[in-house]
Amino acid sequence: MNISSVKLVYFSPTKTSKQIVEGIAKGIQDGPIEHLDLTPRQAKSQAFIELHEELAIIGAPVYGGRLPIEAVSRLKRLKANNTPAVVVVVYGNREYEDALLELRDLALETGFKPVAGGAFIGEHSFSTEETPIANGRPDTEDLKKAMEFGKKIQETMGKISRPMDTSSLQVPGNYPYRERSQRSEATPITKEEYCIKCGKCADACPTAAITINSLITTEQDTCILCCACVKSCPTNARVMDLPRIKNVSEWLYTNFSKRKEPETYI
Ligand SMILES: Cc1cc2nc3c(=O)[nH]c(=O)nc-3n(C[C@H](O)[C@H](O)[C@H](O)COP(=O)(O)O)c2cc1C
Ligand code: SF4
Ligand code: SF4
Repeated sequence: MNISSVKLVYFSPTKTSKQIVEGIAKGIQDGPIEHLDLTPRQAKSQAFIELHEELAIIGAPVYGGRLPIEAVSRLKRLKANNTPAVVVVVYGNREYEDALLELRDLALETGFKPVAGGAFIGEHSFSTEETPIANGRPDTEDLKKAMEFGKKIQETMGKISRPMDTSSLQVPGNYPYRERSQRSEATPITKEEYCIKCGKCADACPTAAITINSLITTEQDTCILCCACVKSCPTNARVMDLPRIKNVSEWLYTNFSKRKEPETYI
């Protein structure tokens, strides 16, 4: 079958998953690509969305070896009718454990037909200048691999007449999935002396946890520690200053600095 319409579906607070699904799409076709970005806070309460494209590329980050709970609830609002799907997780150079299996299962549950899968590497959300973890990734080499994966998907799809002809996609992971990490007891903070009240942190927050008045407040119950606010602040006023997360960053820097490479399944 020929692929003439591709839709990118992603939850990507710090935009590394978005870059990877875009890279894969470039390898599949040159034409215009539609985006369904499930990251903005408005996507939290959107109605069911039916997909009619010939191929969907679904991307999400790995949190604690699983999919972020916010990504799961948003992806569950999709309704596909045997739409072939490429499932992709992006992780911060530690491990992706059960996340790709979980995304494949979720795609099946919402009516997709998973035809290919991948685990790519993106800059870790907790990466800092002092403890860089997969800094600057995906880089040129990663994006080249994403495009090559896209080309391979196109070739494979070209050889079959309909998606039902593909055998079921096998990806690594275990049942039962790992337990989800517990919600954090704290959030990033704002150094008010550097804050220019531009609102970029609140705009970037996928869960609407930030309110800007005379002071900036952050709702702890809804914060998922995604670091989108930290990475979008133009003055470095927004910081992840939590001792627990600082310890995690140091541990990641010490133990997971050796470069990992993307893995693909088709
Ligand atoms: C709460 C949280 C948990 C994370 N857990 C993992 C993990 O288990 N393994 C890993 O390698 N990276 C982990 N990461 C890093 C992200 O998977 C990585 O930075 C990813 O590129 C973010 O995707 P995005 O840019 O699309 O938001 C975690 C990040 C956050 C915020
Ligand atoms: S993005 Fe930074 S400078 Fe802008 S309002 Fe938020 S904390 Fe303040
Ligand atoms: S407040 Fe929490 S959920 Fe919102 S962008 Fe910052 S880290 Fe992410």
